[in-house]
Amino acid sequence: MIINLFDLEKKFTKKLPKDIEGYYSSGARDEVTLKRNRSIFNEYELLPRLLRDVSKIDLKTTILGLKVDSPILIAPVAMQQMAHEEGESGTAKAAKNSNTIMTHSTISNRSIHEIGPLHDKLFFQLYFSKDRDFTSQMLQDCKALGYKAIVFTVDAPRLGTRERDERNSFKMPDNLRLGNFVGTKFENFDKMEEHSGSSMNLHSDNLFDPSLTFEVIPWIKEKSGLPVLVKGILRPDDATQALNYGADGIVISNHGGRQLDTAVPTLRQIEPIRNTVGYEPLIIVDGGIRRGTDILKCIALGADAVQIGRPLLWGLQYKGQKGVELVLEILKQELIETMILSGCKNLNEITRDLVVKV
Ligand code: FNR
Ligand code: LAC
Repeated sequence: MIINLFDLEKKFTKKLPKDIEGYYSSGARDEVTLKRNRSIFNEYELLPRLLRDVSKIDLKTTILGLKVDSPILIAPVAMQQMAHEEGESGTAKAAKNSNTIMTHSTISNRSIHEIGPLHDKLFFQLYFSKDRDFTSQMLQDCKALGYKAIVFTVDAPRLGTRERDERNSFKMPDNLRLGNFVGTKFENFDKMEEHSGSSMNLHSDNLFDPSLTFEVIPWIKEKSGLPVLVKGILRPDDATQALNYGADGIVISNHGGRQLDTAVPTLRQIEPIRNTVGYEPLIIVDGGIRRGTDILKCIALGADAVQIGRPLLWGLQYKGQKGVELVLEILKQELIETMILSGCKNLNEITRDLVVKV
């Protein structure tokens, strides 16, 4: 029986081959941040308001001018066809049916040309290649295909080491492709040389540019002609810098614990970052969000919306598009319950005083 997201996680873990499940589930090194992203939610407790007429609950919000049915968005997650044949198209269609935003990863099996036409609320996640012409072309294509924003991931000047992937010599199955690289010089970069350990490290050595600084933000805005969100921010001063360089919002994230192990869990950084940047800028947060109560806590501490990473894979593996819709629906119903029991009719009523630090 499937009651919550963990029921889907159990099915997922049992079903997939060990190396693929390992790639999707693992965190960097000792996986301390991966675990802390979740355990920190228990360090914040709820202080519900009562007798507030909660007969009608409204979850609607607006993100960069896009009206969505809930503050639950879909994070960029690489290579989704390893979980289900539909891959990113199942996720995009689920996002459309649930009227929410999906961010499409650079490292996807299905290309922007396949996914772009499926939904009018898509963001594109950018891994910034050393080859600027390639990056520039991809950004222009995103605009032409109707993507609404670029999510520039900055916590990966290289990939963090996921030791499970090293042990399993993780490699994308040969029958799959990275859609955005087909027909480019990067097409077969993971087959270019013999290697041991995770082939993801080869991807990142070939594709990521560790020399980037904040000054690249205006370049991305100019080339894409789209709003830019900076993903991977954990420090208030970095949030301020990103906004000063023209970012249209930030995503507080530690990449689901996959980059710098022992980096702070994201929940803790929402309030200091909101207090530093002020009321206005868009703040999205991800990392370990699995329950309606998690979402309410993030919003109470200052986030405008949350996004889910691994749970979308659990849903996708279970039933493709329908499974992703199920994940979004479970979270939505849990958030509604949490709001009713805490005395909040709408997202504006989710205020800081609802949460106490243990
Ligand atoms: C990711 N994440 C990620 N982020 C990104 O900017 N580009 C990417 O291609 C990927 N790929 C990716 C693959 C897998 C398998 C995972 C689990 C994660 C990070 C993702 O966007 C998000 O920050 C985290 O997944 C959020 O944490 P949870 O919800 O997975 O705990
Ligand atoms: C990952 C990358 C691709 O976390 O973002 O595996």
